[in-house]
Amino acid sequence: MSTNAAWFERARRVIPGGVDSPVRSFASVGGTPYTVARGQGAYVWDVEGRRYIDLVQSYGAVLLGHAHPVVTDAIGAAAALGSTFGAPTEGEVLLAERIVSSVPGCEQVRLVSSGTEAAMSAIRVARGFTGRDRIVKFDGCYHGHADMLLAGGGSGVATLGLPGSAGVPAAAVADTLVVPYNVVPELDERVACVIVEAVAANMGLVAPASGFLEGLRRACDAVGALLVFDEVITGFRLSAGGASARSGVTPDLWCFGKVIGGGLPVGAFGGRADVLAALAPDGPVYQAGTLSGNPLATAAGLAVLEAVGPDRYAALAARAARLAGGLEEAIAGAGVPVHVPVVGPLVGLFFAPGPVTSFAGARAAVAGGHYPVFFAAMLERGVALAPGPYEVMFPGLAHSDADVDAVVAAAAEAALEVRAAALSPAG
Ligand SMILES: Cc1ncc(COP(=O)(O)O)c(C=O)c1O
Repeated sequence: MSTNAAWFERARRVIPGGVDSPVRSFASVGGTPYTVARGQGAYVWDVEGRRYIDLVQSYGAVLLGHAHPVVTDAIGAAAALGSTFGAPTEGEVLLAERIVSSVPGCEQVRLVSSGTEAAMSAIRVARGFTGRDRIVKFDGCYHGHADMLLAGGGSGVATLGLPGSAGVPAAAVADTLVVPYNVVPELDERVACVIVEAVAANMGLVAPASGFLEGLRRACDAVGALLVFDEVITGFRLSAGGASARSGVTPDLWCFGKVIGGGLPVGAFGGRADVLAALAPDGPVYQAGTLSGNPLATAAGLAVLEAVGPDRYAALAARAARLAGGLEEAIAGAGVPVHVPVVGPLVGLFFAPGPVTSFAGARAAVAGGHYPVFFAAMLERGVALAPGPYEVMFPGLAHSDADVDAVVAAAAEAALEVRAAALSPAG
């Protein structure tokens, strides 16, 4: 019989740690990862046939739910025409047009294959355009795993308790300044760019404080530095215009990923046309990719973006609000201190009595040690959360009110386990 344990054992023999991305590991929560056999809408089934209400949704890459026919049909149709050519295709133009027309101020985009690539390429073009080396990032923000951005990282880096990463030479991060989120840093003329998650979603969910993004814009303008919004999570999830449209603050460069690929590997970086003119072949900043603008990925991404009109974003936010309100009431009702932040469709979870505004605050909440107990109790009840306390929940358009209510009911019981564990002598 096919079991999660057997698959994980096989995986560990041939894949380091048994996972192709550390955020999938159960290292910080304990237990054996479930191996997914299939997904449909709001649900995934593991190889043992157990169904979970899935709040991971590929860490935000899936918006319509798993295996949505709009997406699978688009991929099938594209695949029948050939999967990659090494020459321009219509799909990449259409996706670029869609992004540019949806995100005010974003004049051009170049497609890549992951969010990591998008962020590292945005940094390179910012450095090339300004002729400066220094970059500023915020503690607890995650921008993928390129060397110069692996300092003070959230997400899996934080979950595994790493200050950065071995294998990153000191020289690679020597020009990376890490500063606290929600505080406008002092900049000078050495700074090429400031990169920020305009809504931080890799240290749990931390909204930008009032005036923070506006302050960054002013600080960058004062010294001629570029402002980069990493919207790999927020792009086309908060709204079609993402966090920039929502905040009214227009950066010089954007990073996109996840939703714009409809579940296939895509990233994009874009922004001011005069900045992007620095890119090869027109300019001296080199950046390239064999599979960039891949026809299957652009077809999947376009299918999603076309299916999600403004009314759908309102529905998505309403679902997230229902989830957040329900979770907070259920967990607090069990006597466990909790704060459930919600920004549009994004929902966080801090086992802390009040709002969290920084990575330090997020770390303090995580140090309470409640998440692993909660995670395991939810999984036991058929709800799949991310196996790390610094991730957010991704309710999507496939989650019904009944799904949300089932998650909340499970959370009420799981919170009792958290409370019991906290009160037990070992806890
Ligand atoms: C804000 C942000 N930027 C960049 C990335 C990196 O994207 P990818 O995992 O596609 O390389 C992520 C991944 O979670 C992210 O959340």
